[in-house]
Amino acid sequence: MEARHPKSSKTIMTDLVLPSETNPLNNLFGGELLARMDRAASIAARRHSRRIVVTASVNHVAFNRSIPVGSVVTVEANISRAFKSSMEIYIDVWIEDRESGRRDKANEAIYTFVAVDDTSRPVQIPELIPETDLEKERFEGALRRRQLSLVLAGKMKPNEATELKALFFD
Ligand SMILES: CC(C)(COP(=O)(O)OP(=O)(O)OC[C@H]1O[C@@H](n2cnc3c(N)ncnc32)[C@H](O)[C@@H]1OP(=O)(O)O)[C@@H](O)C(=O)NCCC(=O)NCCS
Repeated sequence: MEARHPKSSKTIMTDLVLPSETNPLNNLFGGELLARMDRAASIAARRHSRRIVVTASVNHVAFNRSIPVGSVVTVEANISRAFKSSMEIYIDVWIEDRESGRRDKANEAIYTFVAVDDTSRPVQIPELIPETDLEKERFEGALRRRQLSLVLAGKMKPNEATELKALFFD
């Protein structure tokens, strides 16, 4: 199975915030943003693995800035690491100022997707080779984030999370 670079699966989705997608403060509803991020991440995971993919876990979401109605929102999904059947995906969310055209980072999230066959069984995926400094940094951290996610899901014992523990005790 041939290894792939993050750029071959990068997914960028740009869309408006409509009034029906907002909360009582006229800002984008959190669940709507989660769905947009899930969609972009799922396309990136499918491009990398070329398989059916499912969301296994939402590992981190930071709603740092509210996004007002009428905003132009860009959701960018990049695979940060591929394991055996699972992929960590970083999602960066940008909003665009109408007058200056400047893009500001509004939110970010980290999702895990798993490639599966027609019977929902996990299948092997290609390796990911990071190229840029940011891709390498996210690749390095992915192993401990995977361990944290598995520990929280009750699928790994804390004392087996070697890289995660090293973050606190080394
Ligand atoms: C995700 C799913 C395929 C995992 O199946 P499973 O039987 O737990 O399979 P495994 O334990 O072999 O795990 C498969 C991979 O997922 C990873 N994984 C499972 N749960 C995870 C979690 N909470 N966080 C991070 N990774 C996780 C495992 O580490 C493993 O990765 P690897 O193959 O790269 O080593 C299965 O739980 C599923 O189908 N869930 C429903 C998915 C869905 O419907 N999503 C939409 C939300 S409504």
